[in-house]
Amino acid sequence: MSRSINRGLFRLGIIVLLYCIDIGNTQLLINVKNQGGDVVQETIAANVTEDSVMLEFQRSDGTLITQLVDFRHEVQILKALVLGEEERGQSQYQVMCFVCHIHKEEFISSDAMAKLRQKNPGTIRTAEEDRGRENYRMDLFVDVPRSGVISKHIATLCSEAKDATYTRRSDLNRWASQSAVSLHALLDAVKEYPTSLQSNTLAEPSRCLETPGLWTPCTCHLEMCIGWYPCSLKYCKGKAPDTSSYRCGIKTCRKCSQFSYYVRQKQLCLWDE
Ligand SMILES: *[C@@H]1O[C@H](CO)[C@@H](O)[C@H](O)[C@H]1NC(C)=O
Repeated sequence: MSRSINRGLFRLGIIVLLYCIDIGNTQLLINVKNQGGDVVQETIAANVTEDSVMLEFQRSDGTLITQLVDFRHEVQILKALVLGEEERGQSQYQVMCFVCHIHKEEFISSDAMAKLRQKNPGTIRTAEEDRGRENYRMDLFVDVPRSGVISKHIATLCSEAKDATYTRRSDLNRWASQSAVSLHALLDAVKEYPTSLQSNTLAEPSRCLETPGLWTPCTCHLEMCIGWYPCSLKYCKGKAPDTSSYRCGIKTCRKCSQFSYYVRQKQLCLWDE
């Protein structure tokens, strides 16, 4: 096979990336075996124009997880749609969104993502590398209707989470330091927690786990694990005499994110018990 064709093929492991002319359908369906042994089906779609990637799947407990990476603004949105327990007076579902800074290098680019093709679509896959669990202590609400300065995707994705979209002051600082958006403008897109919490950090409410009253504010924990995602490109060395390297595949990772955040009633955090 000639070098020029070789360069056009990202080939390694089970995923084959081809230079494709069909730009329309860039959605991948991947069967992923998670650590509990369940198989879930992930949908991954890239949008090169927007420079974004969206990954979605439904957990075996029914929770729908959506991850959107907005590379242009270095923003990751993780959304959970949790089915309610109707016998406990909950609505049919509740939606939460967590908006954080992401380094571009944590994911492959939308362009590379859009070129991914699967050789054997039925294959059940597991990630090559476990990136463990990262803890996120959310300390601000995002004001969803004003969130466009952070990422225009928040308003679309989190329209049902107007009172349950969270971010961190440290993320605002990162966005302010690397983009044209001022910290002042970013601060306009967030809301503080109730004042009783800010005056004294010790006043942070106890974990919902330890809170007896259903109507009491508490700190909720929610974990979301992405079982399989393309986290970097692999490079191979060409044969002599031209030994420059070329893209020849992807590396895949799994990663869990554990969010802790304020809820005004334990009722909104019934899984944390
Ligand atoms: C990508 O985003 C643009 C701009 O929002 C939109 O017009 C287009 O339909 C999207 N393409 C795909 C394949 O979703």
